[in-house]
Amino acid sequence: MSIFDQPVDRRGSDAIKWGKYAGRDILPLWVADMDFAAPPAVIAAVQQRIAHGVFGYGAPPASLTEALQAHLQAEYSWPIEADWIVWLPGLVSGLNIACRTVDGDVLTATPIYPPFLSAPRLSGRTLHSVDLACPAGHWQWDKNALQAASTVETRLFLLCHPHNPVGRCWNRQELLDLADFAERNDLVVCSDEIHCGLILDADKHHIPFASLSPEAAKRSITLMAPSKTFNIPGLGCAFAVIPDAGLRRRFLRAMDGIVPHVNVLGLAACEAAYRDCTDWQRELIAYLASNRDAIETAVNRLSGVKMSHIEATYLAWLDVRELNLAQPHQHFETHGLGLSDGADFGAKGWLRLNFGCPRSTLDEALRRLQQAVVVA
Ligand SMILES: Cc1ncc(COP(=O)(O)O)c(C=O)c1O
Repeated sequence: MSIFDQPVDRRGSDAIKWGKYAGRDILPLWVADMDFAAPPAVIAAVQQRIAHGVFGYGAPPASLTEALQAHLQAEYSWPIEADWIVWLPGLVSGLNIACRTVDGDVLTATPIYPPFLSAPRLSGRTLHSVDLACPAGHWQWDKNALQAASTVETRLFLLCHPHNPVGRCWNRQELLDLADFAERNDLVVCSDEIHCGLILDADKHHIPFASLSPEAAKRSITLMAPSKTFNIPGLGCAFAVIPDAGLRRRFLRAMDGIVPHVNVLGLAACEAAYRDCTDWQRELIAYLASNRDAIETAVNRLSGVKMSHIEATYLAWLDVRELNLAQPHQHFETHGLGLSDGADFGAKGWLRLNFGCPRSTLDEALRRLQQAVVVA
């Protein structure tokens, strides 16, 4: 029995994931948080901070910066300097600030986490987007399409790494190709690495885009957070790493007067997560990998649904186009499954299933999936 087998009842709580389907027999497998309690060390750190009783304006303590630097060094062999860090209340803020920081058009690739598509528009920027290629069920970059979509006005490339929703952990060669593309087209690369702690395949390793070379670092804005890995997105603590001083100054200027400080509970949780939770994280990865395997096995037995191997994240990206459903998202809801609609990610006929849940919930979800497919 794993600690992650223990169900936590989130019904009637503040969870938006569960609130959406309150009172209906629909399993919520949509928004990207997990149905697991945070690591005990994180809970203890937050409780200790609460016990202090005074919640004035807070700043990240030196011990947090040190814990973060040590974590990035240990996990990714990425040495960063303390003054490269810009604390943020969330990554979506970071994506929007990046769009306001860099003057010019924005480029990205679909399918993609929806704020990648909305942030340029909200920031008054023109978005160019290409489709990721998927030959033989393996998601990858289409270099020709990327080059064709990049105009003389394009200045910012939004990278999702690992990629939500296709679950790829981009490898060194793919990243070097992207860095070369950015160099040739003089692009700043904003690399959203929020899922970097969730690499499920033992033979894969996360490589921060900015760690590739000094040239890549110079044109990079890396966005990270403990929120996905340690399941604390509700605590609102994230950060950008921006090695280039000029770019960092422009980023800070775009935040001015709009972006609040990170709250003190988020800071306490972040420090504990990065310093004290490596064992918890390893156990989580094993659990999620086993959930991932169960989904892949179940989906491979179904006709009309396809998925590629998920290397990272707790999100499965399901292709249901062959079922020819007029309203795929609604069809699965009718059969008790609350999934994310691929249309929001720029991909109609696809659905995203969040498998960050106890195995008992997932087994029931897979039973419902099969029923929904059989009657489709
Ligand atoms: C790729 C990606 N970026 C950002 C976020 C959200 O970040 P935040 O909650 O810190 O704004 C998510 C959440 O699902 C995500 O998948």
